[in-house]
Amino acid sequence: MGMGADIDGTEAGMSGADMTGGDAERVARRDRAVRAAVEQGLLGPGTPLAGLLDVRGIRESAAALRAAFEEAVAPGTPVLHAFAVKATPLVPVVRLLAEEGLGAEVASPGELALARAAGVPPERTILDSPAKTVAELREALALGIAVNADNPQELARLDALLAEAPSGAPLGLRVNPQIGGGSIEAMSTATATSKFGVALRDEGAREWVVRAFLDRPWLTRLHAHTGSQGIPLPLLARGVAETYALAEEINARAGRRQIDTLDIGGGLPVNFASDVTTPTYGEYVRVLREAVPGLFGGAYGLVTEFGRSLLARHGTLVARVEYAKSAGGRRVAVTHAGVQVATRTVYAPEAWPLRVLAYDAKGRPKEGPAVAQDVAGPACFAGDLLAAGRELPPLEQGDVVAVPDTGAYYFAQHYGYNSLTRPGVFGFVTEGDGVRFVTVREAQPVEEIVREAGGAYADALTAAGARGDR
Ligand SMILES: Cc1ncc(COP(=O)(O)O)c(C=O)c1O
Repeated sequence: MGMGADIDGTEAGMSGADMTGGDAERVARRDRAVRAAVEQGLLGPGTPLAGLLDVRGIRESAAALRAAFEEAVAPGTPVLHAFAVKATPLVPVVRLLAEEGLGAEVASPGELALARAAGVPPERTILDSPAKTVAELREALALGIAVNADNPQELARLDALLAEAPSGAPLGLRVNPQIGGGSIEAMSTATATSKFGVALRDEGAREWVVRAFLDRPWLTRLHAHTGSQGIPLPLLARGVAETYALAEEINARAGRRQIDTLDIGGGLPVNFASDVTTPTYGEYVRVLREAVPGLFGGAYGLVTEFGRSLLARHGTLVARVEYAKSAGGRRVAVTHAGVQVATRTVYAPEAWPLRVLAYDAKGRPKEGPAVAQDVAGPACFAGDLLAAGRELPPLEQGDVVAVPDTGAYYFAQHYGYNSLTRPGVFGFVTEGDGVRFVTVREAQPVEEIVREAGGAYADALTAAGARGDR
């Protein structure tokens, strides 16, 4: 197992729950992949940073999600697990999940284009987003993609578009049950003033929502997503319970089962402190069963929108230590993994701590007594640190660091600081004693950086291009 101490200095097994056999196998695969990435030259002096994705791990998470709900729902209940594409916006990942029976939750034209390129069919695609334009809505309706309207103005747009051209797309409304936030304010979508959905507890809002449904027989879904990371399971379940209760009220007032599907969002948190998978989908389903007994009874079809819990575990950043130095008595390892691939961690380290695992230049887990050191990224500002004062075996020039749990919302979401290029992303499978890599995304060439930076318009602002008053 990789020798890096966990964030809090404890080893995996001491953080409350124990690793399962599946967890241990995943850790072993990760170690093998780090070593193979060095041996096969994916990582080296010329390519000092790469993202690795564990194909088997992704399949296992998808299977665990399916199984947890299959066990709980009444036979015949339609269940769609729509992967939140924002978590890992990579076409081959979305296609892999589609092969595992999942759909896609998209929240921008770009994400919709990725899902379509991955081959996700319209009936397995859901469009959310607080800022859909008329053109986006029109496209979704034409394609037959499910849409969750965010607010009264968006519903009015749907009214107008449906008057122009009828659509068979399943349509719903997102509500904010306003039940409070979790440990990360920026990830909490059910606070009193959250920007998402119709704020249910505001004066008159609940009655307005009921009326909105009664006036629109085509509005058949209710959607709530209580938050993403940092929301405890009971609070997630309360968000679902409030949504369920509202659906029951609407259907009672309508005198029929107008709402036929509940979209319960995603948000299952990931344990970034160790390799123990906790909480599991099975645990979440158990909590939901207790909090919302009617949810699985078959009266409603279900949609889920998990992102982080499906992918985070299965991504590992690997980076070379370019220099090892010391400043003010502190060891500093300058690596190539920083703000461009771990943006949230660098800007909000308290909310988004990541583990760092130490390997030697050959990609073998590093042994040796741990000493406090900073693990820095390549960007030109002092705060570009993956970890500060982290206890690790001393990192030397040419060593490799691995940053696990970065498969969602990390290296797939590049941040262009310092014009740092996007690293290549590679899927891996183990085969006997070997590890086989496949390209998921090529490393970005610097020519593309120039093109994206207006390279074709180099003269636009100078005398040759812009001759205004001087
Ligand atoms: C509407 C919606 N659904 C699903 C998700 C995915 O959340 P998570 O990755 O925490 O499962 C998000 C994340 O922001 C979201 O906004």
